Amino acid sequence: MPTYIVLLGPPGAGKGTQASLLSEKFNLPHISSGDIFRENIRNNTEMGKLAQTYISKGELVPDDVTVAMIRDRFKKPDCARGAILDGFPRTPPQADSLAEMLTEFGGKVDLVPFITAPTEVLIERLAGRWTCKEAGHIFHNKFNPPKQSGVCDLDQSPLYQREDDKADTVKHRIDVYKQQTAPLINYYLQRGVLTEVNGIASIEDVASQMNTLISLEEK
Ligand code: AP5
Ligand code: MG
Repeated sequence: MPTYIVLLGPPGAGKGTQASLLSEKFNLPHISSGDIFRENIRNNTEMGKLAQTYISKGELVPDDVTVAMIRDRFKKPDCARGAILDGFPRTPPQADSLAEMLTEFGGKVDLVPFITAPTEVLIERLAGRWTCKEAGHIFHNKFNPPKQSGVCDLDQSPLYQREDDKADTVKHRIDVYKQQTAPLINYYLQRGVLTEVNGIASIEDVASQMNTLISLEEK
């Protein structure tokens, strides 16, 4: 049976950081809707141009565009074994669409680690985040500094600060999360797959909470 894990949590909670560790550990694809949008923006595609108008303001990209993009990603054969989803779904209609897509693979959402952290922590994390241009690898000037300032440890590409990590946009993203994404907490609680993870701990400690959850799930 394939295993599909959805990482849920506010902006800056650590979804991308943990998704990339899980993807490596379990050899499952890391599907980040934000990364796919940013790649399209870099390549100046029509979808990228449209997504940019929402992302720069900290708004969600409309559901139909987002779902079509993820549906396309799921056509690649690597998803048949399972996936670590980061940033998708982000609204109840997106969650319904995901459930539908997974039935096509004979799968379902198996586990939803919900990473929590208070707003002041999220703001500090996003203010100090540096992202790699090439592949979206994530660093932090204080909590996870690169070996050489401004350069990705993994692929040596330049690090940049995301446009939507400006203080005002971050605050708006957190409000959008509370209004449009937080309803997924109940959505997945009702389906018996959501477990809270304490996101204030160090990156290593959060990773070890994740690993415990997954090994319990496998039993
Ligand atoms: P997206 O890219 O998904 O951004 P987000 O959800 O706002 O989340 P972030 O990437 O900001 O945070 P994260 O939880 O991944 O934290 P990270 O691991 O980087 O989406 C961007 C935009 O795209 C959206 O606003 C929307 O416009 C659009 N979009 C995307 N998906 C969509 C969808 N499904 N529907 C509609 N629109 C969509 O960590 C943050 C920082 O903290 C890093 O510097 C990291 O090093 C550090 N850190 C991580 N964990 C720890 C820790 N435990 N201790 C200390 N530091 C830590
Ligand atoms: Mg992220």
